[in-house]
Parts: sequence; C-alpha cells; structure tokens
Amino acid sequence: MLAMNYRGPFRIRADRDKPVPQIQHPFDAIVRVTRSLICGSDLHLYHGMVPDTRVGMTFGHEFTGIVEEVGSGVQKLKVGDRVLVPFNIACGTCPFCKQELYGNCHESNPEATAVGGFFGYAHIAGGYDGGQAEYVRVPYADVSPTIIPEGMDIEDAVLLTDVVPTGYQAAEMGGIRKGDTVVVFGAGPVGIMAARCAWLFGAGRVIVIDHLDYRLEFVKKYAYCEAYNFKEMDDPVVFLKKQTDWFGADVCIDAVGCDAAGSAMQTITGKKLLLQAGSATALHWAINSVKKGGIVSVIGVYGPPFNLVPMGSLMNKGITLRTNQASVKRLLPKLIDHVMAGRLNPKGIITHRLPLEEISDAYHIFSAKRDNCIKPLLIPPRAAMA
Ligand SMILES: NC(=O)c1ccc[n+]([C@@H]2O[C@H](COP(=O)([O-])OP(=O)(O)OC[C@H]3O[C@@H](n4cnc5c(N)ncnc54)[C@H](O)[C@@H]3O)[C@@H](O)[C@H]2O)c1
Ligand SMILES: [Zn+2]
Ligand SMILES: [Zn+2]
Repeated sequence: MLAMNYRGPFRIRADRDKPVPQIQHPFDAIVRVTRSLICGSDLHLYHGMVPDTRVGMTFGHEFTGIVEEVGSGVQKLKVGDRVLVPFNIACGTCPFCKQELYGNCHESNPEATAVGGFFGYAHIAGGYDGGQAEYVRVPYADVSPTIIPEGMDIEDAVLLTDVVPTGYQAAEMGGIRKGDTVVVFGAGPVGIMAARCAWLFGAGRVIVIDHLDYRLEFVKKYAYCEAYNFKEMDDPVVFLKKQTDWFGADVCIDAVGCDAAGSAMQTITGKKLLLQAGSATALHWAINSVKKGGIVSVIGVYGPPFNLVPMGSLMNKGITLRTNQASVKRLLPKLIDHVMAGRLNPKGIITHRLPLEEISDAYHIFSAKRDNCIKPLLIPPRAAMA
C-alpha cells in the first residue's frame, strides 16, 4: 500500500511497498483511511527530536476511515462503519483508562511509565504505525474509534481526533473562570483551537503570542482574540505584564512545546546540543507572565528526559501547573455537540489539501511554515471510494 515512510530527520517519502496491515489480535480492526492530517507533534518526529523514532515508521495520528475488517473479539464496530479514530490508543479497562486518562493508558504502550500508545509515533509511544497511509491497524477497536455522526463533514470529523480536543483540553486545564485573561503561546492549530475554546469557558480576554504574522492574522479572525508578535517585543514577559495591570494573566497556555523559538540559550541547549528535551522558551514565558496564584496549562509536548524550568518562580508565585496529552475519547461527546451545533468550526483551519503521494511536500510546507500553512490535510488515493 501507499504509506508515509520515515527515513531520518527531515527525510520522509511516500512509498508504495508497505505491506497492508493485518489483524494481529482479536480486538483489532483494519481501517481504510479516508483523510489524515499532519500535526505539530509529527514535526517533533520530523525534526529528529523524539528518542527512538525508527526508520521505516509511518506517522499519522489524526485520521478518519472506513472499517475494512474486524478481529473476532470486536463487538461494536462493523465492517463498513465510517469512523474517526482518536490519536490515543487506549485499552479502556486499565486503572488510568477507568479514570478517563485515555492518553495515559497502561496497557497500550510497553514503555508505559508515562504516556500511553499513540498511532504513528516513536517507539516511546508504542511504535504503532499511523494513518498517513492507505490502511491502519487499530488496536482495541471497540474503545476509542467513534462513528462519524450523520451529517458531519469529514474534514470536521478528522480534526476531532486531536486538534479540537487538544485545544479544548488546554483551555479546560487552565481552569478559566468568568472574565479571566488568558494568554496562549503558539498560533499553530492547537493554540488557535485553545484560544477559540477559551471563550467557551468564559474567558474575558484572550491574547495569542507567536512570531508568524500570517498565523497571528489568522487567529485574530478565527478565535476573535488579540494577537501579538513576540519578535516585535523587547521582552514578551514585560509586554504581557504591561497588558495585565502588571499583575500577569490569570491563565497562560503553552501550545508550543519543545520546538519553541525565541531564546538563543534554550535553542542551543535544547535543540542543538540536546542537553535538555528541546527548548522550553514558551513554558518559561508562560510561568513568568502568569499572575501569582495563576494557572499554567501545558499542552505543547515535551519529551521524557527533562527540561530546565523555573521551579523557583512556580513555587514562590504559587502557580498551578497542569499538563497532559489530550484525552480525546473523554471529550468527544461534548465536542461533537459543539461542532454539530455550529459553535466550533474545525475545518476552518485546514489551509492545504494534498494527495497522500505528496506527503513529503506537505511536511516541508507545514514545517517551514510556507505558503501561509496552518493545517495540511492528506487524501489517500482510494479515499474517493469513501
Ligand atoms: N498534549 C497533546 O495532546 C497534544 C496534541 C497535539 C499537539 N500537541 C502539541 O502542541 C504543540 C503545538 O502543535 P501545533 O500543531 O499547533 O504545532 P505548530 O508547530 O503548527 O505550531 C506551533 C506554533 O508555535 C509558534 N512558536 C514557536 N516558538 C514560540 C514561542 N516561544 N512563543 C509563542 N509561539 C511560538 C510557532 O511559530 C508555531 O506557529 C506541539 O508541541 C504539539 O506536539 C499536543
Ligand atoms: Zn497531534
Ligand atoms: Zn488503558
């Protein structure tokens, strides 16, 4: 089948000779992909920043598809069902799944000391092949895959597998109270969705920070917020303090993660010398610009080793730090309602639609932030039969 093939940092291609996945366990399903997306988390892999990313892997953890085959133990899903498949692979029965911490499943990842299994990620997340392909093996098929509701646009459905719940959870972890000032670092798909969702929790003011003008312009319109370029500031922390009566924001959201720009020291130690797990620049800014007693919500991804974070500021300001991978299955019912009722318009962030064959270009455009790219969608050759 046609599938994305990782060859090493900044080197991926579409190959035609990957074997079609087979049922390996009674709870598996094989899904024929109809749409998939590239995520900012894929860029961490693409940039060679995630340990144990193996050559030959197929990435992709945001996809919709049609059930092609089911294992003997699968009871809910049927051949022919049109499904959206959350990025977390969750068993549904371990103590963490029972608490709806589906991103922290203890069964789906052999390295399960922290994160659960994901589709199309490094072997630290279980090493499952992903959805930037024509077919995917979906374990625990009765747990997370969700039938696409009648009348829902497939482009909205595919964004419900990650970006929408992730942005929503970023806002939720911020514990936003009515009238709060919320600062979101990062105007990528996740930051854009976090800014949009902050209003659903009652925010009174939403400010987004990035250094890409086209994304700042986009988020202003899409999420009805203020947006500022940190390259035009002497110091983003001082700028934000000034914006918030010198107290600081009530809530700061890091929607950037370990690939952050903006600090030479962080870039050299985190991205060039790999002395820490990527650069934590946005995290520093979030901790330093939130008010005393405020909440910092970290949805941007950091790897397992460690980062240099200002513990003294966290402690002495009495900051609450909340972070996790999104728990997609937990949030889906609510978010499907928001989309069906028109309160959220996920597909509005898709800027590029490319055939799967052109995946190498799609990664390049998204990674280099070319051509005003916000979110690229991939369409496999047989998707037309959907
Ligand atoms: N926790 C989860 O479940 C989850 C799920 C999906 C994605 N993520 C993570 O969310 C993050 C964002 O994903 P995305 O798809 O929006 O990625 P993206 O790369 O498209 O966007 C990141 C944005 O951050 C901006 N940026 C860089 N340095 C910055 C800084 N210091 N301050 C402010 N902005 C800065 C970039 O210009 C870019 O626009 C990534 O780390 C991704 O891995 C987490
Ligand atoms: Zn993702
Ligand atoms: Zn589990």
